[in-house]
Amino acid sequence: MPSIQLVNPFNHQPLHYSNEGLKDSGNNLFPLENGAYKFVKSDNYTSNFGFQWNKFVTTQIDKSTNFKLSYDRFFAQTGWDKEDLSGKNMLEVGSGAGRFTQIVLDHTKANLYSVDYSNAVEANYKNNGPNERLHLFQASVYELPFAPAQFDKVFCFGVLQHTPDVKKSVESLISMVKPGGELLVDFYSVSGWWTKIHAKYLLRPFTRKMSHEQLYKKIDKHADWLIATNRFFSKIGLGKILNRFLPICDIDGTLPSGLSKEKLREMVVLDTFDMFSPQYDQPQRISTVVNWFNTYGMSNVWGGYVYYGKYKSAVVKGIKK
Ligand SMILES: C[S@@+](CC[C@H](N)C(=O)[O-])C[C@H]1O[C@@H](n2cnc3c(N)ncnc32)[C@H](O)[C@@H]1O
Repeated sequence: MPSIQLVNPFNHQPLHYSNEGLKDSGNNLFPLENGAYKFVKSDNYTSNFGFQWNKFVTTQIDKSTNFKLSYDRFFAQTGWDKEDLSGKNMLEVGSGAGRFTQIVLDHTKANLYSVDYSNAVEANYKNNGPNERLHLFQASVYELPFAPAQFDKVFCFGVLQHTPDVKKSVESLISMVKPGGELLVDFYSVSGWWTKIHAKYLLRPFTRKMSHEQLYKKIDKHADWLIATNRFFSKIGLGKILNRFLPICDIDGTLPSGLSKEKLREMVVLDTFDMFSPQYDQPQRISTVVNWFNTYGMSNVWGGYVYYGKYKSAVVKGIKK
C-alpha cells in the first residue's frame, strides 16, 4: 500500500486495514463493499448521481466510447506531464463513474485515491477496478478519510457546484494538498446575468424533487423530439438563443460531433438527467473561487477558461504554500 495515512474522518484516529475493511483503534469499521471503503451511513443528497452513474456506467468512459473527451479535458486543463506523475499520490474528489479515474490509471503511473459521496464508486470500480494503484472511497468532501496535507495533486472536476457549501468544499480540498502540491478544480461558472435564464434553472425547483426513476422516464420519453428540435434550431442558426429554453442538455457545446443516433441519444438522456436531478446547482464566479484559493493558503493561483477543441471549462488552480 502506498504511504497515505488514512483516518477516521469523524474522530481523526488513524485507520488500519483489516479483513472486513478499515478500522480505527476503537474498532469502528468502515467496510469494503463492491470495491470501495464506505464512509457514508445511508442515502444522502447525491443519490441522483448514484442512480445516473450506475445506469450509464460506461457512457462517458473514453475506453468504452473510443472518443478522447476525458483525456483531452484532463490534460488540457491540468497541463500535467504524464512522466512527472509516476509514483505521485493523487486525490480525485467526486469521481462519478470514473471517466478521469480511467485517464489517470491508463495514462500515468500515479497512485490514485478516488472519492465520491454517492454509490457511483461502484460504477467506478466496474470501469477501473481492480487495480493496485486505485483506492476507492465512498465519502464526502467534507469528511475525507485522509490526514491533511499528503497529496501531490488533487483534482475535483464537475463537482463543486453540486455541493451545499462550495467555499467549504474548496477549503477541504486545499487541506488535502501537501506543501508544493497542486489543486485544480473545474466547475460551472457564472458568465453574466443571463446564466440562470435557462430552462434548467426554471424547471429544477420541480425536477429535483421528482423520484429519480420518474425523472429518468420523462426525459427518456421526450428525448427524440427534444433532440430533433435542438438540432433544427442549431441548423437554422438560432441554437445559441433558442436552445437554452429547451429542457435538454447543450448538445453543441458539450457533446462531440459525429455520434451515432443511438450514442447521441444515450449521452443526451444522461446529460439531461444530470442537469435536472441534482439537489444543488450553484455556478460560481471564477474570481470568487480564485479568492478562496488565496484565502486558504494557495500560491500561484490562476483562474480562467481553458479551451480544447470546441469545448471550454472554467478552471482554477494553485500551489499549496
Ligand atoms: C456531475 S458529477 C461529476 C463526476 C465526474 N467528476 C465527471 O466529471 O464525470 C458530480 C459528482 O460529485 C459527487 N459529489 C457531490 N457532492 C459530493 C460531496 N460532498 N463529496 C464527494 N462527492 C460529491 C456526486 O456524487 C457526483 O458523482
